[in-house]
Amino acid sequence: MTAEAMPLIRLRDIRKIYPMGGESVHALDGVDLEIREGELLAIIGPSGSGKSTLMHILGFLDRPTSGDAWFDARPVSRLGEAARARLRSEKIGFVFQAYNLLPRLNVLHNVLLPMSYHRKPPADLLDRAHRALEQVGMVDRAHHRPSQLSGGQQQRVAIARSLINEPRLLLADEPTGNLDSHTAQAILELLFDLHRQGRTIVMVTHDDNVATHAQRIIRVLDGRIVEEAKAC
Ligand SMILES: Nc1ncnc2c1ncn2[C@@H]1O[C@H](COP(=O)(O)OP(=O)(O)OP(=O)(O)O)[C@@H](O)[C@H]1O
Ligand SMILES: [Mg+2]
Repeated sequence: MTAEAMPLIRLRDIRKIYPMGGESVHALDGVDLEIREGELLAIIGPSGSGKSTLMHILGFLDRPTSGDAWFDARPVSRLGEAARARLRSEKIGFVFQAYNLLPRLNVLHNVLLPMSYHRKPPADLLDRAHRALEQVGMVDRAHHRPSQLSGGQQQRVAIARSLINEPRLLLADEPTGNLDSHTAQAILELLFDLHRQGRTIVMVTHDDNVATHAQRIIRVLDGRIVEEAKAC
C-alpha cells in the first residue's frame, strides 16, 4: 500500500487484556479499524464496552497487549514509551469529559501546557495560544482561573489546549458528558466547525446530535466493534 492510500490510522486485531487477580479483563478483543484523514468518527457503546481503552490506544496513552497499529503509514505498535510520548505530544490532541485543566494555572497557561518552554513563553507561542483561544471564543478569559469559568467555558479552554500543537488527530472522550444540553450543543458545534476546517476527529459520545454530523459511527460492545453505520 502506498503512503498516499494509507489511512491516517489503521488498527489490526488489537487486543487489550488487563490482568485482574486470577482473572483477566478483555477490554479490547480483536479490533480492526481504519480512520482516514479529515474524518469525523463517532464511537458509541455501553459503559465498560472498551471505548476509552480504544481512545487511549489511538492516542498513544496506552499500548495494546497484541495487534498491529499504523499511524500515518508508520508501524507504531512496537514503539517504546519515549517514542509514543513524542507522537502523543506532537500529533494528538485530547479533550476529556472532565476538562482536566490545572486549577492553579490561568487559561492562557493551561492552553500553553502541552508546549515545553522555560519560564517565560516566547512571543510566537503566545500568539499561537491567543489564536487557539480565539478559535474557541475565549480570548477575553485568558487570565481567569478554571474555577472562575463555567463548565462549557472550561471545555472550550480544553479544546484550545488540544489545538495548540496543531494535532493530526483530535480525540474527544465524551466531551459533552458533564454539560447541560444547550452548552453541549455549543461544544459539539465547535467540534463540527473544527472538522469542517479539515481536522480529523474521533469522538466518544452518547449524544444523538453527533449521529447527524458524523460520517461514520461505530458501536463498541464487549471490546469488539459490532456495527459500522454510515450516517446519511
Ligand atoms: N486499568 C484497568 N485495569 C483493569 N481493567 C480496566 C482498566 N481500564 C479499563 N478496564 C476495564 O476494561 C473495560 C473497558 O473499560 P473502558 O474504560 O474502555 O470502558 P468505556 O466503554 O469507556 O466505559 P464508559 O462508557 O463507562 O466510559 C471495563 O470492563 C473496565 O473495567
Ligand atoms: Mg469511557
